[in-house]
Amino acid sequence: MNILLTGGAGYIGSHTAVALVEAGFRPIVLDNFSNSHPAVMERLARITGTTIPLERGDVLDTPWVESVLRQHRPVGVVHFAADKAVGESVAQPLKYFHHNIGGAVSLLRAMEATASEADMPAPTLVFSSSATVYGDPASVPITEDFPRSHTNPYGHTKLVVEDMLTALNAAQPNWRIATLRYFNPVGAHPSGLIGEDPADIPNNLMPYVAQVAIGRHEALSVFGDDYPTPDGTGVRDYIHVQDLAAGHVAALQTLLNKGKSFTVNLGTGRGHSVLEVVKAFERASGRPVPYRIAPRRPGDVAQCWADPTRAEALLGWKAQRTLDEMCADAWRWQQGNPNGYRP
Ligand code: UFG
Repeated sequence: MNILLTGGAGYIGSHTAVALVEAGFRPIVLDNFSNSHPAVMERLARITGTTIPLERGDVLDTPWVESVLRQHRPVGVVHFAADKAVGESVAQPLKYFHHNIGGAVSLLRAMEATASEADMPAPTLVFSSSATVYGDPASVPITEDFPRSHTNPYGHTKLVVEDMLTALNAAQPNWRIATLRYFNPVGAHPSGLIGEDPADIPNNLMPYVAQVAIGRHEALSVFGDDYPTPDGTGVRDYIHVQDLAAGHVAALQTLLNKGKSFTVNLGTGRGHSVLEVVKAFERASGRPVPYRIAPRRPGDVAQCWADPTRAEALLGWKAQRTLDEMCADAWRWQQGNPNGYRP
């Protein structure tokens, strides 16, 4: 029951690797460590008590990906590997089109080339998409049949890859494809051994808040307090990364058992404002999180949360963990690893 995880050393990939081992699968990590750290592999071994095989290289290298597929014959592939910083994608669009769309094309062509060979399992893919494909939603909660749009090159790449998968599946109905639209993943494994490790100053709220609580930054800038939300700050559907990891296991099991492709939201179905996150983090850490109100961040939407009904019906999966648990686990990781995976 080998499962290949492209970008498996990253934030969501590493938590999914643990969940897969616990569910009886054998994950194999494929990663070039462009936005992750090799030290994660030892942490995974400590948590799982098993050595997870590593294939170090680039998903853009199609012949090499083919050789990895031939060697491991995975019953499923989870494609996490991609760049994900919205602001960077505006400044460097070609990097995003190259890595995110080119990377998906390369992986899919490698899967296609090897699928017909003897002893290769039916092509089965889980794709990391994002709530970003809903653009600025007309209302909340968001169901999977809402219109899709994009407001930046990063979001555009997720949309294009979704469309590519639809076209591929129409041409080749034997492919089994799960498209998972993540809302806002936060938190860390309860061991505190793996977590989110932003290379630079974090773009996202929760890692920034954690770095303020530990004293690396003076204060959080709250991007706008004049949104049409209860306290004026942006509202998002924060989902514990452990729940998200469980969602990937459920998606793989559903693809393998039912053999049918699907698209689902992975969110909790409830939203929290920036100020609610700040208060929850102060409770979890026992530290103050000073903040100042700053102008709105260009491209931000007022509110975004999922209708997770379809995921529950199809996968038998539901997010369990509360915002307080998300903050407590993010804080444990931050305290134990003030510099992330770097010594
Ligand atoms: N925020 C702040 N200060 C910060 C960082 C964020 O006030 O320093 C606010 C934002 O304005 C927003 C909320 O906190 O209201 C959440 O912001 P994040 O950057 O953590 O998350 P986003 O919802 O903006 O972005 C996430 C993913 C993207 C994805 C997008 C839409 O990071 O990859 O959801 O799905 F595109």
